[in-house]
Amino acid sequence: MSDAWRAVDSYISGKLICADPALDGALAANAAGGLPAIDVSATQGRMLELLAWMCGARRILEVGTLGGYSTIWLARALPEDGRLVTLELEPHHAAVARANLARAGLADRCEVRTGLAVESLAAMIAAGEGPFDMVFIDADKPSNTAYLDAALKLTRPGSVIIVDNVVREGAVTDPDDPDPRVIGTRALFDAVAAESRLDATAIQTVGDKGWDGFLLAVVRPA
Ligand SMILES: C[S@@+](CC[C@H](N)C(=O)[O-])C[C@H]1O[C@@H](n2cnc3c(N)ncnc32)[C@H](O)[C@@H]1O
Repeated sequence: MSDAWRAVDSYISGKLICADPALDGALAANAAGGLPAIDVSATQGRMLELLAWMCGARRILEVGTLGGYSTIWLARALPEDGRLVTLELEPHHAAVARANLARAGLADRCEVRTGLAVESLAAMIAAGEGPFDMVFIDADKPSNTAYLDAALKLTRPGSVIIVDNVVREGAVTDPDDPDPRVIGTRALFDAVAAESRLDATAIQTVGDKGWDGFLLAVVRPA
């Protein structure tokens, strides 16, 4: 990873993102709890918060909680009566996330559900939950098309869907890459390209988290 990318992320954070005890504390608690440092960066988290604000999100769905760092950014954009559901496989990650959300004063509007996200999503669809105004997908990449499918059932026209880590240091362009995360990401692009209900783009990013990118889609009016 380039030192310059890191320096620019640090410059942007220094100028535009205030030190924040809840977010800094969440990262410290994640490290203390042995969670991998694979959360979004501060600049990306801020972007998620701004996007949630821009679309006036009142209900947000997240797939892939880890310690709740991105959850905190997203939940801060919610109004007091807003709601965020975040799905996590690992009970330990979920426990750390719940504690981080409580310390951030967001426990009242956030619910961390544990289990395989495909199963949690199927249960949500069966229960008629939604529609969510925004969905952030950031879990196991081989399941991305299943998550997109579920997201389409849990959203409405105008909802925003964001999928993280879709560039993978450029590996996404390699049809022969055997990495299941790359295969899953390429399948996601194929699914989005073939999906008439979505308008989408993807943006490459560099910074603290290396060279990657996110996919941004809006559910079209019917
Ligand atoms: C990249 S991390 C999420 C980072 C988080 N969104 C953030 O930025 O703070 C991915 C998370 O997805 C979880 N995960 C992996 N496979 C999953 C699955 N099948 N169902 C639900 N969660 C899963 C992992 O345990 C991990 O905590």
